[in-house]
Amino acid sequence: MNSSDLPRFDTVDLIRAKRDGQVLTDAQIDWWIRAYTSGHIADEQMAALAMAIFFRGLEPRELRRWTAAMIGTGERLDFSGLGWPTADKHSTGGVGDKITLPLAPLVAACGVAVPQLSGRGLGHTGGTLDKLESIPGWQASLTNERMREILRDVGAVICAAGSGLAPADKKLYALRDVTGTVESIPLIASSIMSKKIAEGTGALVLDVKVGSGAFMKTADQAAELARTMVGLGTDAGVRTTALLTDMATPLGRTAGNALEVRESAEVLAGGGPADVVELTLALAREMLAGAGRGDVDPADVLASGKAMDVWRAMITAQHGDPDAPLPLARHTEVVRADSSGYAASLDALSVGLAAWRLGAGRARKEDPVQAGAGVEWHVRPGEAVRRGDPVFTLHTDTPDRFEPALADLADALVIAAEPPAIGPVVLDRIG
Ligand code: URA
Repeated sequence: MNSSDLPRFDTVDLIRAKRDGQVLTDAQIDWWIRAYTSGHIADEQMAALAMAIFFRGLEPRELRRWTAAMIGTGERLDFSGLGWPTADKHSTGGVGDKITLPLAPLVAACGVAVPQLSGRGLGHTGGTLDKLESIPGWQASLTNERMREILRDVGAVICAAGSGLAPADKKLYALRDVTGTVESIPLIASSIMSKKIAEGTGALVLDVKVGSGAFMKTADQAAELARTMVGLGTDAGVRTTALLTDMATPLGRTAGNALEVRESAEVLAGGGPADVVELTLALAREMLAGAGRGDVDPADVLASGKAMDVWRAMITAQHGDPDAPLPLARHTEVVRADSSGYAASLDALSVGLAAWRLGAGRARKEDPVQAGAGVEWHVRPGEAVRRGDPVFTLHTDTPDRFEPALADLADALVIAAEPPAIGPVVLDRIG
């Protein structure tokens, strides 16, 4: 059905209705989303409605319908005949969040296929595709047929979401980005879940980040977003749970594309930073339970080396060379501690901004990223540090970027006389 077959409503009446706090009907929502996607509603009218939703919210019924209408604008993938149960993970985005890289092959090595449709990064949080594209030869774009073949043969695939999934969201997200309407729980939840439901996964685990480096700065906001998304997934027949995880501190010890691939490979080889391993295993357990394989212990599978085998096969299937040296930035600069004590805190947002300024991220979606750029931090909260020890190494191809990145990092690391109490990475579970 195209938008002209749907009952017609007056665009301005609907904007006024939501502005004044009224609840939209199913027919109004269906019409709106179709008419916007097909270009019959102007961007400024969609922007006005998005702002009205930002302030007035959507009732649970409206939100379900809004999400279903966005899914209905595109294709829906179906992996039911694959011969493997399927599970996916979505993270709301954080600094140093490379978890998808070890997680997808690990879960596949446990017997559950992972169809990961990912995006590129915008702003201070990195994108999974940007990270993988630092592997020489690796290609993000696949046809649906090739994605299905890799999933069947290897068990895990991480690739670019094509334009066929929820095209309404693609258009709306770009508009929200420039109209101050990103930070709305119903708009974020429907945006993420329309794509994840259309992707056709059987089970889904949401990693909802909380803290300075995340969209959601407080645990209450994050819990509300998590509950909203879990509700949408469950209503759509996807077994959905969420973990609320800490993003006050960046994950691991690196932020930047090739730097994070290197760290992920260390995890797959049985090493890597403890917090990255802890979160990878926690999310793997959720995915396996959702897919009916809760009897498999991912820690054993990780230790067996099977996840590394899947990683290598997964990279090779997309023309990447898992043995090729990863790109290095042309210039580095080391920052040293100006006092002795214990690292008390390391601010995720400051580190994310520094990595972004060094060239690891982009300001506009057309911008290129530098594969080798980013930040390494040599101390994590709780670790002892002596005056003069290296605390950060900055990497970039363009040395004029050191100065702004150093400014971001100036207050990022707090050194105190006493060791701080270290909290867990996983703060809560919803679902
Ligand atoms: N990621 C999305 O896909 N959509 C949002 O609205 C926010 C983050």
